[in-house]
Amino acid sequence: MDRIIIRGGRPLEGRLPISGAKNSALTLLPCALLTDEPLTIRNLPRLADVDSFGHLLNQLGVSTTIEGTKPEEFGRVMTMRATSLTATMAPYDIVRKMRASILVLGPILARAGEATVSLPGGCAIGNRPIDLHLKALEAMGARLEMSAGYVRAIAPGGRLPGGTVKFPIVSVGATENALMAAATARGRTVIENAAREPEIVDLCRCLQRMGAKIDGVGTSTLTIDGVKELHGATYAVMPDRIEAGSYACAVGITGGRLELEGARADEMQATIAGLREAGVEVEERENGLLVSATGELKPLTLSTDPYPGFATDMQAQFMAMLTRAHGSSVLTETIFENRYMHVPELSRMGADIQVKGRTAVVHGVEQLNGAPVMATDLRASMSLIIAGLAAKGETQVNRVYHLDRGYERLEEKLSAVGADIERDSDG
Ligand code: EPZ
Repeated sequence: MDRIIIRGGRPLEGRLPISGAKNSALTLLPCALLTDEPLTIRNLPRLADVDSFGHLLNQLGVSTTIEGTKPEEFGRVMTMRATSLTATMAPYDIVRKMRASILVLGPILARAGEATVSLPGGCAIGNRPIDLHLKALEAMGARLEMSAGYVRAIAPGGRLPGGTVKFPIVSVGATENALMAAATARGRTVIENAAREPEIVDLCRCLQRMGAKIDGVGTSTLTIDGVKELHGATYAVMPDRIEAGSYACAVGITGGRLELEGARADEMQATIAGLREAGVEVEERENGLLVSATGELKPLTLSTDPYPGFATDMQAQFMAMLTRAHGSSVLTETIFENRYMHVPELSRMGADIQVKGRTAVVHGVEQLNGAPVMATDLRASMSLIIAGLAAKGETQVNRVYHLDRGYERLEEKLSAVGADIERDSDG
């Protein structure tokens, strides 16, 4: 099992390329199911989850070819073609490993008139049900049958009528499933309280390029007028705002100066505001962000919220950075019920953090000390890397398969800007 070894204390200096966004790629790939023409997605990050999703699509009858960039370059080009579907099911062994597999539900239902997917089960950060996905499809006219841990959705007459979807809480995945199912519905679908994350905008833009008729892109009310069929297209994945924010936190805690190439400031305003309040300098540039810090940090009070609020996917990384702030920070996690798995591991490195329910109080300490630590989920893993970059001595992060799900070639990117980091594959 791979582990990553870091010898901390070195400031980060240089230029770091930001990859395509994992959470956009994972909703753009299933769009291939909506048409029998080729869909080409560019700027795909080289990630385990992207590969897993490609395998799931293959099982459904989608041909996939990866072409283009050389191994040392970032971003891949994948062309997918679903001439016809050979299956309409997403099995438990795939869905339980990657929750985003649930995003084939809407597209398969729209394409084939019926779909069967496994209920995902929980994960490290929480129960993560899919009731909102199912209620949305029902509101659009689908009939649902549950049995033995699977849900089967059926579109009467083979094509969803469409309808009004009112989400009681914001759900990124449920908004994505509803959007993809609505694109070729018979009539109009209105999605109220839709998620507004940039990844949703990316999905809308890709669907529009395929011929979908969507109004209200970027707002919390989306109106989709179904079309008979969608055609093929080529679309490039947006840059990963969470990856960029993660590396900005690494500069915050180690000091230094990084150019985050390709980062889009307009999609990271809450992250940038938090960094600036903590004393990290962020300059918005034409082709990215220039982030610099002295290593002196101020404490923050932060609460995670749906976009455009402070992203839950940035909470663990900010917590790691704030372990070294001068004073106490208060973080509140409002989205997931168990997203503090990184706290015990950060504490092993000398951090002083108290968790009470959904709130964590982080008392800044002078020094973190390297230690062997355990990654538990994707963003928790990154928080341990960030802490290790500043800690005195050696940190070993175990179970780095979590990291490989969401950070393309992390140790290569960090080594290139001065970090003393390596992957030990026989660990
Ligand atoms: C997406 O997950 C992201 N994953 C997550 O990123 C991200 O943390 C999350 O959105 C919030 O921004 C991908 O895009 C692949 P939700 P998703 O539906 O769609 C509850 C990462 O680290 N809920 O917006 O699963 C849910 O339990 C990952 O990159 C229901 O109750 O998130 C949570 O409390 C982690 N019923 C809240 O809503 C449902 O049917 C928000 O979840 C669906 C969700």
